Amino acid sequence: MNVYDGQRIAAMLEKHGFTQTENVSDADLIILNTCSVRAKATDKVYSALGRIRRAKKESALLGIVGCVARESGADAFRRIPELNFVLGPQSYHKLPEIIKNPDTKLLNIDLGGLEKFDELPQMTKTPLVAYIPVQEGCNHCCTYCIVPYTRGRELSRPFNDVINDVINASKTGAIEICFLGQNVNGYRYTDENGKLYKLSDLIRETAKLPEISRIRFTSSYPTEMSDDLIEIFGTEPKLLPFLNMPIQSGSPRILKKMNRPDDIDAYKTIVKKLKSVRNDIQISSDFIVGFPDESDEDFEQTLNIAREIKYINSYSFKYSPRPHTAAALMSNQISEQIKSVRLQRLDLQLNENQREFNMSCIGKEMICLYESVDKTGRHLVFRTPYMQQCIVDKPNEDIAPLQKIKITDANKSCLRGEIIK
Ligand code: 5AD
Ligand code: SF4
Repeated sequence: MNVYDGQRIAAMLEKHGFTQTENVSDADLIILNTCSVRAKATDKVYSALGRIRRAKKESALLGIVGCVARESGADAFRRIPELNFVLGPQSYHKLPEIIKNPDTKLLNIDLGGLEKFDELPQMTKTPLVAYIPVQEGCNHCCTYCIVPYTRGRELSRPFNDVINDVINASKTGAIEICFLGQNVNGYRYTDENGKLYKLSDLIRETAKLPEISRIRFTSSYPTEMSDDLIEIFGTEPKLLPFLNMPIQSGSPRILKKMNRPDDIDAYKTIVKKLKSVRNDIQISSDFIVGFPDESDEDFEQTLNIAREIKYINSYSFKYSPRPHTAAALMSNQISEQIKSVRLQRLDLQLNENQREFNMSCIGKEMICLYESVDKTGRHLVFRTPYMQQCIVDKPNEDIAPLQKIKITDANKSCLRGEIIK
């Protein structure tokens, strides 16, 4: 979501005559696009601001946008007096106002809903992977999560608006569409004639575009995995066989305290249904360890589910108490030391899953999407349909971004392959 917001901010500023620089001391305008989901992310923003305010030109405008802006509000100006603007994740389209009035301080952390999408200019050049938000905000209220506060209540964008963005992306360079939302599979839009559109409708419509070869979406809430969405994995080959569906914990007791779906059997049933429509599908998850009151037994259940579902490409975090959340006030907070030990143990399991899956790919042929040239300049990095990195020798001639690659080697972090001519 932040990559998308960053791209849109850059496109908007280009319209105002700005160009990008890598060098802080050259910049006339410096924007930090920020995340506040864990305390560490917020702390990084303030330490970066400390560095930037010393390095920048005296006249340069400096500001923060995104979730830290929303969380800090006017307090950000007190902490960093050099700040010129503080704009929340739903008001960064107001950025041109500070360019017009550089001598003011601009604060806007309103939850403007979907207003920003109407005001942002379309991209004139889209990267190979286009991120397209379909909904913003979240109604789920997991007790650890600051998102319902920073991004507000859940709102789905009109179906036609999303499809227009997809068509524009396909005409300006995109080959892969990644639909985004904090609760992406909760996408529901009813038009003026009462017709209901769901995420599966967006996927079906997008798949009709010849320029688009790969479709994926993130992040999914387990109980919103409706049958129409499960079935489309079996019928739409452009939809990648890889799904991020966070479980967060393997303990029903902790899931209840997290205000998350706590029926582990129901979760496993969804995985089973997905595998029955497409047997090569793989699942990834996010995990939180050290949630308040998590016992050794609760944590063992998390390890067990990670082993059983064989999640790949997963993310694991130490629980981080956040302002405006219920869990921050819960008793029996877990010590940092215990959180660190649990995170290490979970990561061992997740790395083992990844290594095993990567090894199982050796000998297979996969259609992969070009991502970048590696640091040495001698290799190209591709992404497999499972988002693994696959490294190939750089051919002498220019090649198309989609290539059939035979996997020749693997380790925990990436694959090696050869382009099949
Ligand atoms: N502490 C740790 N991890 C968190 N996440 C969200 N809030 C917190 C928190 N307070 C994680 C969840 C979520 C991912 C985006 O960030 O795992 O899925
Ligand atoms: Fe946060 Fe995701 Fe839970 Fe929504 S579903 S409250 S975004 S963790």
